[in-house]
Amino acid sequence: MANKLMHALQYNGYGGGSSGLKHVEVPIPSPSKDEVLIKLEAASVNPFDWKVQKRLAWPLLPRKFPHIPCTDVAGEVVEVGVGVKKFKAGDKVVGFVSPFSGGGLAEFAVVKESQTASRPAEIPASQCAGLPVAGLTALQALTQAIGIKLDGSGDRKNILITAASGGVGHYAVQLAKLGNTHVTATCGARNIELVKSLGADEVLDYKTPDGAALKSPSGKKYDAVIHCAEGFPWSTFDPNLSAKGKVVDITPSSSAIMTFALNKLTFSKKQLVPLLLIPKGKNLQFLVDLVKEGKLKTVIDSKYPLSNAQDGWAKSIDGHATGKIIFES
Ligand SMILES: NC(=O)c1ccc[n+]([C@@H]2O[C@H](COP(=O)([O-])OP(=O)(O)OC[C@H]3O[C@@H](n4cnc5c(N)ncnc54)[C@H](OP(=O)(O)O)[C@@H]3O)[C@@H](O)[C@H]2O)c1
Repeated sequence: MANKLMHALQYNGYGGGSSGLKHVEVPIPSPSKDEVLIKLEAASVNPFDWKVQKRLAWPLLPRKFPHIPCTDVAGEVVEVGVGVKKFKAGDKVVGFVSPFSGGGLAEFAVVKESQTASRPAEIPASQCAGLPVAGLTALQALTQAIGIKLDGSGDRKNILITAASGGVGHYAVQLAKLGNTHVTATCGARNIELVKSLGADEVLDYKTPDGAALKSPSGKKYDAVIHCAEGFPWSTFDPNLSAKGKVVDITPSSSAIMTFALNKLTFSKKQLVPLLLIPKGKNLQFLVDLVKEGKLKTVIDSKYPLSNAQDGWAKSIDGHATGKIIFES
């Protein structure tokens, strides 16, 4: 593939939203020793991608301009680095592109072998391209941060999942129901039936007073909250938590960090835990296997060809996606 060109979208500086993304022809990347080169069939956008463009990860990301955004990709391996053992050309895969190098919004991308999972050919790439960031975050929140056992063997827990119609939330509802949980979820009125169909036991419209107060319709106190929406002061969570209730905040604000510190300092039994995704290929494989077994699915908000990826980018920035926004090559 050396010296061949591919189509990609990149931005040259901070800001600009969807119109900051420019169509370009750039060299197809070459895989390093421990990387695979994937010809992409699908990719997905996460709020993280456009938050980087908005300078919210400065000075860490992006490393340099121009930058090809997006980390979540699915496709077929076309070349492997000399040290790669698990994959070969022709394998169908899903992967997490390093956010430091970037590269998912393109026809080809390189991914570390350790951040790649096999995908059965019969599962469409679009079903898997949403899994890396959103699926892994939901999995990490449930299993690591809260300690839910997805084989259903743990103690029964009452869980609240906010923004359950979003990328992370819709995976979190499905995964939580594999464990021994009662799930209360929040979403907009138009998505209540969808979120129930994903397994939520009770669903609150976030625009109603009870929804805004996060009050369980059946009066349950939450042992844990996976907080995928933004905002909400600690005073909203506190009365709804059980004695040792834990709020896992995936978009912690500065006041949430203060609450985290204060709760620690005062030895509060209730906790707020900020979560940062640590992506792992073996967990990605676990999620792909659940999709294969029919236990997890990706709700697709909309699909955009790479030639019109700006519209999908704008839709994500708008903040009202139901499930995942997918780009197809
Ligand atoms: N810490 C980490 O490592 C990590 C990893 C992944 C994501 N995140 C962050 O987590 C957040 C969620 O990500 P995502 O991919 O799930 O976002 P998303 O897919 O863009 O979420 C959109 C959904 O959220 C719903 N929503 C918005 N505000 C709500 C509210 N107050 N109550 C209930 N539902 C609400 C929207 O419903 P309506 O359309 O009805 O308004 C929409 O369906 C983002 O801020 C993202 O950056 C962090």
